[in-house]
Amino acid sequence: MKTLLLYFSQTGNTEKVAKSIQDGIRDAEGLCDLIVLKEFDPALLAEYDLVGLGSPVFYYKEPFNVQDFIEGLPELNGQHWFVFCTHGNVIGNFFPSIIEKLKKKGALVIGFHNSYANITLPFYPRPSYTSGHPDLIDLEQARAFGRKIGKLSPQIKNQESELIDLSCPVSSEEWNQDSRMLTRETLEKILPKLSINPETCIQCRECEENCPVHGIDIEEDPPRIQTPCIYCWHCVNICPTLSIEADWEPLVRMAPANYSRYKKELDEVTERGEFRWLIDPELIDLNDPFYKQRQRETKTKK
Ligand SMILES: Cc1cc2nc3c(=O)[nH]c(=O)nc-3n(C[C@H](O)[C@H](O)[C@H](O)COP(=O)(O)O)c2cc1C
Repeated sequence: MKTLLLYFSQTGNTEKVAKSIQDGIRDAEGLCDLIVLKEFDPALLAEYDLVGLGSPVFYYKEPFNVQDFIEGLPELNGQHWFVFCTHGNVIGNFFPSIIEKLKKKGALVIGFHNSYANITLPFYPRPSYTSGHPDLIDLEQARAFGRKIGKLSPQIKNQESELIDLSCPVSSEEWNQDSRMLTRETLEKILPKLSINPETCIQCRECEENCPVHGIDIEEDPPRIQTPCIYCWHCVNICPTLSIEADWEPLVRMAPANYSRYKKELDEVTERGEFRWLIDPELIDLNDPFYKQRQRETKTKK
């Protein structure tokens, strides 16, 4: 059996989980290729018996580049797929949303796996509630999932389709409403606009090369940014000279209210045994967002 693991990962969490799932599939004596989503040619899909698609949760569902990738797929004619994700405080509607899209393309979705992970956003603090994940226990669970899914696909091909169990974790309805409301159009209106500061930009091209949707060209005059954009803020977080700027303060001011909702959600999933706190939530300073921490670090280096 030949499996393909496709993944999108910006800060490395989903990549770690993908590698552990790959180990598990290999434990089950399957061949398994691991390929970054951006570099994959869908014409190669026919070579595989089973495909796993992994991604972070963005805005309580799958990121827009992942949506576009699925949209561009050919008809999948019952090919076996599974989905996996990493996320911070709230998984939201990720699984129902992505599974529905894959089914529309003709995939037979046979499983899912999720893992808590740390969050890197300019307007939220770091560490954050879910920092420390995925830890060794999470990665061992991902590996066990890989072993299970590697054995399940051949069993289903032998007509044992009652083995498919898609009763996946979902958050309460309030988050699903947020997930539906946060469309590309809404995010464009409500989120801060980015600009490149020509005084400090050293044209290193880190932002251009790491933008998942080729939304940046610093050679254009003026430099092109956020055209298109999936609002991942990765360019902001990695710019070595902090030259990608925005007014984060309105979002920072919303952090205490958002975090009290996140805390409630995390307490609920902790009670159900789905989350382990690795950090004391009382120690997190919501008034010290990541973008300010980076400003301080950069000044110290100078
Ligand atoms: C733009 C953005 C939106 C996010 N939205 C959510 C979310 O709705 N729910 C959640 O639990 N985590 C959210 N996160 C956290 C990521 O899902 C989490 O950090 C993930 O592990 C990142 O994966 P990566 O390291 O593979 O890029 C968001 C992160 C970013 C950057």
